[in-house]
Amino acid sequence: MTLPAHHIEPLITSEAISSRITLLANEITKILPRDIVVIALLRGSFVFTADLIRAFYATGVRPQVDFMTLESYGSGISSSGRVTLIRDITENVEGRDVLIVDDILESGRTLSYARDLIEKRGARSIHIAVMLEKPGKRKVDIIADFVGFTIEDAFVVGMGLDYANSYRELPYIGVVAFD
Ligand code: IMP
Ligand code: MG
Repeated sequence: MTLPAHHIEPLITSEAISSRITLLANEITKILPRDIVVIALLRGSFVFTADLIRAFYATGVRPQVDFMTLESYGSGISSSGRVTLIRDITENVEGRDVLIVDDILESGRTLSYARDLIEKRGARSIHIAVMLEKPGKRKVDIIADFVGFTIEDAFVVGMGLDYANSYRELPYIGVVAFD
């Protein structure tokens, strides 16, 4: 695929990300019960979720894990504004304490779609954890309970986040800068 000329400028190191994830796991463990359902929103959150649940191993949280694929972005860098459910979870969340995990909270549409769906299915409690948050971009009223980093308004990649489905493998967060 041909993309406009660009390069990646490092923003958050992998060391900073992993120490933050350890702290986040501790914060979450203080508030949520041990027996939770983690719902990772794909595709972007798979790396963050993998790190977070391994941090839970040390803090004593013992989650069930399921995945929901939602899409709002096309292949570019701006959201289409409409969320589509591509693949649903199979876990029954009725009466369960749920932690929804996403890579980044921007307009809030993706997370609010997921939260509403889980709420309708009778979850006992719903909390939200995101690796990143962009302030000032919210289009719907939603707050993440646990936030890794609040970043400037830039298009970022790495740690699962993509630009046209590339760069998910970067072990750090970088900004896409157009040449
Ligand atoms: P929202 O629905 O606008 O909050 O956007 C959330 C989704 O958009 C995330 O799950 C990401 O997949 C994607 N997204 C938002 N900002 C970025 C970014 O800076 N880089 C890559 N993906 C992003
Ligand atoms: Mg994406």
